[in-house]
Amino acid sequence: MSVHNDNKEFKKITTHALLAMKQRGEKISMLTAYDFSMAQILDDAGIDILLVGDSASNVMAGHETTLPITLDQMIYHASSVIRAVERSLVVVDLPFGSYQGNSKEALNSAIRIMKEAGAHSIKMEGGIEIIESVKRIISAGVPVMGHLGLTPQSIYKFGTYTVRAKEEAEAEELINNAHLLEEAGCFAIVLEKIPATLGKRVAEEIKIPIIGIGAGKHVDGQVLVMHDMLGINKEFSPRFLRRYLNLYDQILDATRRYIQDVKSEDFPNEKEQY
Ligand code: KIV
Repeated sequence: MSVHNDNKEFKKITTHALLAMKQRGEKISMLTAYDFSMAQILDDAGIDILLVGDSASNVMAGHETTLPITLDQMIYHASSVIRAVERSLVVVDLPFGSYQGNSKEALNSAIRIMKEAGAHSIKMEGGIEIIESVKRIISAGVPVMGHLGLTPQSIYKFGTYTVRAKEEAEAEELINNAHLLEEAGCFAIVLEKIPATLGKRVAEEIKIPIIGIGAGKHVDGQVLVMHDMLGINKEFSPRFLRRYLNLYDQILDATRRYIQDVKSEDFPNEKEQY
């Protein structure tokens, strides 16, 4: 699908386009987005995939985990992002509690996200335990992205956010789950916080795109949480994170200067008033 935007002509990113990127060795770029204004900038920059992640629970709502965010809240964030996007493929996380019950519940949640937010696809965490739901959602025509490795919705089961699948048994389980997700019809899989050697093996064995976050350089694409990558968060510094800006300090400084200007009556000046 070709889109015309003022002076730009470009192709919308589809699940087929992502597969073709993997096949020709072009890396896929993905970032999270939760609101209209930021999504517009990231889309304009040419990001391939925007993930409306349930990390909104952390970075937008201030919760410690991703568990509290609701389906209604995810739909609110997703619809804001969708209104901004012209080119990127938008993937929306099914939040904790909206799909683990059974495949009918999972399908209903996926349909709400597609219908009410206008999303292009959804993401779900897990392997064999959710495979029936994955199949049911895909058979209803909804593209599904899988998510293996560190799956934050299961943090209370894991107990820590440390690297997953370092041991052979867990690595084999992850590979089996990746095959199951591919066979079920997923269009891509996120691998979070696993050894780079395992990321490489999965990306070689599996034909659909493998997008890593802390899964090394040999996977088919990379995803980061936008707040981390822009340096809006100061405390979160995992090894896999590359910060491209230090927005926390820049916003702090700008806000302090604004406060000072208001207090000193420097703002507004003659030209800034009617
Ligand atoms: O919710 C999220 O931001 C995610 C990414 C970490 C992949 O799932």
